Amino acid sequence: MDSDPKKELLDKLPPILKQGLDKNLCTCNEVLKIDIINAIVNGADTVEEVQKQTYATDGIGCCERQVQRLIECLCAPETKK
Ligand code: FES
Repeated sequence: MDSDPKKELLDKLPPILKQGLDKNLCTCNEVLKIDIINAIVNGADTVEEVQKQTYATDGIGCCERQVQRLIECLCAPETKK
């Protein structure tokens, strides 16, 4: 079985951030947490870029800190090649 790079990145998330992947992280725009993670894994390394790709944080911005935290965890220097 191929190793899944996405799974490796997910393993780097603190357990609390791994919960509810299939639930809306951005409830304003109904964006699933996993979709936001996918956008970050695919290169969206700023809140603005995540917003462009997924519309998350484009409501009243209430999920911005959570998106920022995911970016920090997934784009931490030790996880970058
Ligand atoms: S929950 Fe994402 S902008 Fe409000």
